[in-house]
Amino acid sequence: MLKKVLEQGQRLTDVALERLLPPGTTAPASIHQAMRHSVFAGGKRLRPILAMEAARVVAGKLPDGVEELGSALEMLHTYSLIHDDLPALDNDDLRRGKPTCHKVYGEAIAILAGDALQTFAYEVLSNLKAPAEARVRIIHEIARATGTVNGMIGGQVMDLEAEKTMPGSSTMTLIHESKTGALITAALVTGGIYGAANAEQERALRTFGKCVGLAFQIIDDVLDLTQSSEQLGKTAGKDKSAQKATYPALFGIDESLVQAETLIGRGERALALFGENAETLKELANFLVERKK
Ligand code: IPE
Ligand code: IPE
Ligand code: MG
Ligand code: MG
Ligand code: MG
Repeated sequence: MLKKVLEQGQRLTDVALERLLPPGTTAPASIHQAMRHSVFAGGKRLRPILAMEAARVVAGKLPDGVEELGSALEMLHTYSLIHDDLPALDNDDLRRGKPTCHKVYGEAIAILAGDALQTFAYEVLSNLKAPAEARVRIIHEIARATGTVNGMIGGQVMDLEAEKTMPGSSTMTLIHESKTGALITAALVTGGIYGAANAEQERALRTFGKCVGLAFQIIDDVLDLTQSSEQLGKTAGKDKSAQKATYPALFGIDESLVQAETLIGRGERALALFGENAETLKELANFLVERKK
């Protein structure tokens, strides 16, 4: 069941991305090639999959056109990865099993490719096949989640400023919830809005998102320590050498895994109002902590 959901979600997302993104031949070609290099390097497409599944839970079936919401989320996520890998940030050479965007296209084009994926995402969101009011709410939710106050950019700032400082657990949690949890939460909430969720359903998806989003980054930090670069498709062991503020650095690997499991349990309980319909979302939550890349 889960395998089918993952495969279908990846396929729908990839087809929409292929259709929506300008071809690599469109002028100026270098930036379109750079955007496509990073988007089609082989990501797991988890944010689109979570958004689509949230929409399905609320609407009873996959709503028409929801994969375009998924593709916009994936553009924003990919932009964050391109910028995260820049020499001024994490300085990484490998991403999704391929050389990073700036390694292939140079820093200037990589910065602009990230910018372009961000602006293009909002163009796609403004055209979603949803009522205008839902579209505005989706755009607002995603803009906030990727912004500076408890959002992705703010989290990236705190992540960089926390290097070599080993903050306490509440600061650590805030960094993780902001840089990674916020976009994952927005994927679930906007999927719900696309499926016409009521306020109670939206609250449940938000709580679930907060829990699994934090757990997701805890596991990312554990995998950085326990897996090889080949397995991850990105440079392993980076967090230690950069002295990043991570859960395993503060609590150790075992305790971090316990905390991630606890968060997943809490997230699953938030879905009680959906009854059996939430089974796939729960399976996805477990997949997020059991993943090996
Ligand atoms: C990696 O995200 C960056 C984080 C926010 C931890 P993913 O593990 O979802 O990366 P892809 O999209 O599969 O490459
Ligand atoms: C990145 O966190 C979070 C983003 C917003 C991109 P990491 O720096 O740990 O992500 P990876 O390990 O490079 O994918
Ligand atoms: Mg980083
Ligand atoms: Mg990084
Ligand atoms: Mg990481």
